[in-house]
Amino acid sequence: MRIFSGIQPTGDLHIGNYFGAIKQWLDFQHENECLFCIVDLHAITVPYDAKKLKERITEKTIIYLAAGLDPEKVIIFVQSRVKEHTELAWLLNTVTPLGELYRMTQFKDKAKKNKKNENAGLLNYPVLMAADILLYDTQVVPVGEDQNQHVELARTIGKKFNQTFGETFVLPKSKLPSFGARIMSLSDPKKKMSKSDPDEKSRISLFDSPKEIEKKIKSAVTDTQKTIKYDKEKKPGISNLLTIYSVFSGEKMEKVEKEMKGKSYKALKDAVSEITIASLEPFRRKREEFFSRDVYIEEILKQGEKRARTLAEAKMGEVRKKMGIS
Ligand code: AMP
Ligand code: TRP
Repeated sequence: MRIFSGIQPTGDLHIGNYFGAIKQWLDFQHENECLFCIVDLHAITVPYDAKKLKERITEKTIIYLAAGLDPEKVIIFVQSRVKEHTELAWLLNTVTPLGELYRMTQFKDKAKKNKKNENAGLLNYPVLMAADILLYDTQVVPVGEDQNQHVELARTIGKKFNQTFGETFVLPKSKLPSFGARIMSLSDPKKKMSKSDPDEKSRISLFDSPKEIEKKIKSAVTDTQKTIKYDKEKKPGISNLLTIYSVFSGEKMEKVEKEMKGKSYKALKDAVSEITIASLEPFRRKREEFFSRDVYIEEILKQGEKRARTLAEAKMGEVRKKMGIS
């Protein structure tokens, strides 16, 4: 199967990104053809620091490697270096109904947050994402729940193109993790954990030190009751901590609930802290290891770019021909 997914080189990746996206990718890499992209052209649709973008791309590549992606098996590359993504996005714009773009939840959220910068890129973001996916005849897109709507739209756009110009694109499906698709903010467990939340205590970054992890979990919002029970509606904070414990330990929620039953909130937090610190240790170690190996990282990205371009060029040839442009 052909698999494609991407992450923006913005902010620090957190455990939500890991469980929602990257961890699923690992399971795919052995038996499928995978492309994992660092989507810098998506990242520039909100205000960003141009000087830091390159550093952010290196950091994300290190995270991919630290998580266990094998660059011999999968294609790791930077979106902007394969120009076919932008070309296809433009062409797909011409078959994308405006109404579909206006109804995207992420667009509505981001436009609200960036009132002063409500740019067209923000609206067209899902079209570029559709181009990323359709360009490689992707069958499966492993993402967190929040991206499901965008993958559905990619499918709609692909279908519309096929109907208009003839069978060209494979129609993709998203693949959501069965559990942990949505890790919530530690400060406000009704909201998802997010890279762009100004409150740093709301998320655990993959490179956080043991001290930082401990502090953040200690201050995680819970409730005024005393029982440990999974109930997303009534006990969002405790449920989020239980989820984090469950996804790190690989134990089913019923088992975790049983294990924690009767314990104090402090004991639960200590257990979550301990397992998080231990589980993220390879990320901290590998970051040290790769930090001074810029040349190696660049080599991986160059190789990935070359392999991605070969596929992208072939597909674009077909698309141009179908659309009657040369
Ligand atoms: P982003 O942070 O928007 O670049 O998202 C990168 C990937 O992580 C996407 O597949 C998202 O669906 C996933 N993701 C982001 N935040 C969370 C979260 N709080 N819980 C689970 N998955 C998430
Ligand atoms: N929009 C995705 C996110 O914020 C990132 C992304 C861009 C992506 N292109 C993609 C994910 C293609 C999957 C497939 O998470």
